[in-house]
Amino acid sequence: MGIDYSRFISSKAASIRASEIRELLKLTQKRRIISLAGGLPDPRLFPREEIAEAARQVALELGEKALQYSPSRGVPEFIDAVKRFLQRHGVAVRGWDDVIATVGSQEALYLVAKTLIDPGDYVVVEAPSYLGALNAFRHYDARFLTVPLDENGMVTDELERVLRRARAEGLRVKLVYTVPTCHNPAGSTMPDDRRKHLLELAEEYDLLVVEDDPYSFITFEEMRYTPLKTLDRSGRVIYTSTVSKIMAPGLRIGWILAHDELISRFELVRQAVDLHAPTLNQYVVARLLDSGAVERRFDALRSVYREKRDAMLEALEEHMPEGSRWTRPIGGLFVWVWLPEDINARKLLERAIERGVAFVPGDAFYATGGGHNTMRLNFSYPSVDEIREGVRRIGEAIADLRGGRR
Ligand SMILES: Cc1ncc(COP(=O)(O)O)c(C=O)c1O
Repeated sequence: MGIDYSRFISSKAASIRASEIRELLKLTQKRRIISLAGGLPDPRLFPREEIAEAARQVALELGEKALQYSPSRGVPEFIDAVKRFLQRHGVAVRGWDDVIATVGSQEALYLVAKTLIDPGDYVVVEAPSYLGALNAFRHYDARFLTVPLDENGMVTDELERVLRRARAEGLRVKLVYTVPTCHNPAGSTMPDDRRKHLLELAEEYDLLVVEDDPYSFITFEEMRYTPLKTLDRSGRVIYTSTVSKIMAPGLRIGWILAHDELISRFELVRQAVDLHAPTLNQYVVARLLDSGAVERRFDALRSVYREKRDAMLEALEEHMPEGSRWTRPIGGLFVWVWLPEDINARKLLERAIERGVAFVPGDAFYATGGGHNTMRLNFSYPSVDEIREGVRRIGEAIADLRGGRR
């Protein structure tokens, strides 16, 4: 007789919902479907040779250290290499700051939630927001306040209204979580005036700000903006990033840069999670950052992704119905589409799958509801031809839906 395992599952674990994106990806693997639903980098861009060579060197030359347990904060070579890398790319590292190595930036977000959130604390997020962050905060029973987002990222005038109302109602707001540059899912980037406004509000309302920044190193268009971390003069910004998009997500290496007092807290908390990020991978990443082997490839990454983004924007221009609009991302992996109000993106997805294309309906990314007529389209993984054909099929699926055809 089978065991009923559900009796043993904690109520917290039982409350975790399967990621809709993962469920969708499963579906698209079964049939030959063009998937604009995923969020994977283009695997042709992985630095295989560079990683192979660095791993060989590190294992042979530094094996005694590189294959050993290591400090929870990270190995010093990694921490120093990350600080130098960030400074080369305009992210300020202040005297009070330190870095902790994490297992991708997903663990960084999890550590932030685990360390800072008490049940019932409010977290301010963009609508839409990154699902992985919402889920990390949900796991610690955070509540959400949402701020709308447009082509220029979080609408900070709305943030001001939200915070004023929250104060009047006596809500315990702890932090603002944002992806200010090349947003996932929305593809937007905040200009500096909004960034400064956000930080002024963080001062006024005494909040911490989580700046989640996986994409800014390989933006493919000129746009002047300053990392929140660099604009921050008082130590309110917790900056998280990752090598997932500049090297390879399989390395599972990311980091948090923040005030040393916070880093010490994350360090203690993570000891019960995973002891430390993989030592060997930290050494490999440190070597690749310091040797310039990673930065030398950035232009190639930019040109591949720029071409794919352009193909998607052109196809949208051609195939989306009147009344639609979409973001024009300067980097990242996604274009966000606002369809006309009469189109429900979940219903559209059913028709789209019949036509052999998948995307992610946008409402999943809204922490407090909304976004029924939005969708996230990925351009990094499919080929240029698949992007063109996929968007064309979505256009047909919209016609199917509106015409009521089955
Ligand atoms: C905004 C954002 N944050 C965090 C992550 C997690 O990345 P990783 O854990 O691979 O570093 C992603 C991945 O797509 C992302 O888009």
